[in-house]
Amino acid sequence: MEFDKVTVCGGGILGSQIAWQAALCGFNVTIYDIDDEKIERCRGFHQHYAKLFKTDKPFLNLNYTTNLKDAVSNASVVIESITENMDSKKKFYEQLSNYVSDSTIIATNSSTITPNKLKSYVKKPERFLALHFANPVWEANIAEIMGHDTTDKNIFEKTVEFAQRIEMIPIKIYKEQKGYVLNAMLIPWLASAQHLYFTDVADYRDIDRAWIISTKSKIGPFGIMDIIGLRTIYNIILMDAKKTGKKELFERAEKVKKNFLDKGKLGLSTKEGFYKYPNPEYETFLDKHNV
Ligand SMILES: NC(=O)c1ccc[n+]([C@@H]2O[C@H](COP(=O)([O-])OP(=O)(O)OC[C@H]3O[C@@H](n4cnc5c(N)ncnc54)[C@H](O)[C@@H]3O)[C@@H](O)[C@H]2O)c1
Repeated sequence: MEFDKVTVCGGGILGSQIAWQAALCGFNVTIYDIDDEKIERCRGFHQHYAKLFKTDKPFLNLNYTTNLKDAVSNASVVIESITENMDSKKKFYEQLSNYVSDSTIIATNSSTITPNKLKSYVKKPERFLALHFANPVWEANIAEIMGHDTTDKNIFEKTVEFAQRIEMIPIKIYKEQKGYVLNAMLIPWLASAQHLYFTDVADYRDIDRAWIISTKSKIGPFGIMDIIGLRTIYNIILMDAKKTGKKELFERAEKVKKNFLDKGKLGLSTKEGFYKYPNPEYETFLDKHNV
């Protein structure tokens, strides 16, 4: 069978989910991470997913290792989901090239480092592309597939097929785009909402109300920021501030730090961010729009 052995490198938040999803769909999956502690963390995530999905079956298909050679030598597909850091990724791909077979598809799940920046460290660049998942993989079940300028078209199509086989909805991206398609839309949209709130134009609830009622969405920008996590939101704002030097962005980052991070309000994960959880107030915005 094609794709009979799937290897996920990096068993963190996303890697553990990708591995679980592929194992749930019947694939033989190996997870490689750097040390036993990280492997145990990944097993812990999987025990949690087993409760969530009410099944232990994927464990029959899951293997864990800290040996890269064993992990990748017979793999049909290698999905790299290691820490988002250029130096770590570069070293990883150089190491990987020593062991991976010439017939393996190699995919990165990186959110911000495009495949073009990594391809020169990969043994067979034409077999390398991005396969980008969203969090949580099984709910936000899109997979963005994006090659670089010399990715083989057959490899692109095979990766689309693989995404479908693990029950993802493939989003095909035909040329390199920073942020893929989802984040290329989402990040500027969130920034517009932040500008309106942090410069006192409107209350965040009214900004969400306007969006939810007019587009019939279940959620608005501030609800989404709570799900992403306000530490990540803070990091994105600060990165943008440093890049552009804009005073408004430094002030915005400071407000997020003071009003949320310093108070332990990190969003959904701590049960409080802009909204309190469970049952955030925005869930009532559609019901009440006629009053
Ligand atoms: N968290 C998200 O919502 C999300 C969404 C889409 C894509 N991504 C991407 O997924 C990747 C991983 O993100 P994450 O949130 O899972 O991070 P994470 O910190 O939870 O996990 C990263 C894992 O990679 C391991 N690792 C680091 N260097 C390694 C190496 N050389 N070999 C093997 N394993 C190594 C770490 O030990 C850790 O277990 C990043 O590229 C990120 O951009 C994350």
